[in-house]
Amino acid sequence: MARGFFVSFEGVDGSGKTTQMRLLEGWLLERGVEPVVTRQPGGTAVGDRIRALLLDSRTGNLDARTELAMMFADRAQSLAEVIEPALGAGRVVLCDRFTDSTEAYQGGGRGLGAERVRAMHALVCGERMPELTVLLLPPLNVALRRARRRNERAQSQTGADEGRFEAEQDAFFERVHAAYRAIAEREAVRVITIECAGDAQAVQVEVITKVEPRLRAAGVLR
Ligand code: TYD
Repeated sequence: MARGFFVSFEGVDGSGKTTQMRLLEGWLLERGVEPVVTRQPGGTAVGDRIRALLLDSRTGNLDARTELAMMFADRAQSLAEVIEPALGAGRVVLCDRFTDSTEAYQGGGRGLGAERVRAMHALVCGERMPELTVLLLPPLNVALRRARRRNERAQSQTGADEGRFEAEQDAFFERVHAAYRAIAEREAVRVITIECAGDAQAVQVEVITKVEPRLRAAGVLR
């Protein structure tokens, strides 16, 4: 039976990671591989409720430690219900954000520090980490403009408000960005970094060029 393979997508809000994950899903389907696609926070019934609390601007003040604990509560549920069963069944899992997001946002952005996040990861998730992470790093101002515009549009169309993080100041996102860079430097094998400035198609070419050999080496593609 095929071995499971765990891929995460990371980047600041508006980096285009969700689009790239969907494009990779399509590319895999064309090659006969049907991945399990999920996201964090969310992706389970409990996780969707945690997500709503975390992202809604009306939640107001959340202590950074509460935020950290909620991210891992969501992740534990996602591992139990979605990720571990899928990997156990030999499936490819594509996950929109994983622990690198917590290290970047709560560790870097909120200033809790990488060590605390990684200690919590070890407690909650054990050794489980993605085998491959696609980190998209467009210029920060481009990504933030896109994210804030998208959130305003979603709010005016559906009333959904997921803007709690997007409302943060630029300095917060500069810390998030720096934390992502530190992760990429520390884990240069697991993390594929794409400094993307082009359109989605051009970025996809770069993603596939870098990801395909890894999928072949892992036996996911023949
Ligand atoms: P997401 O829906 O992926 O946002 P986007 O599509 O705009 O990139 O993620 C929701 C938000 O949650 C995002 O602002 C980042 C934040 N987040 C954390 O702060 N820590 C975490 O561990 C995770 C998974 C997400």
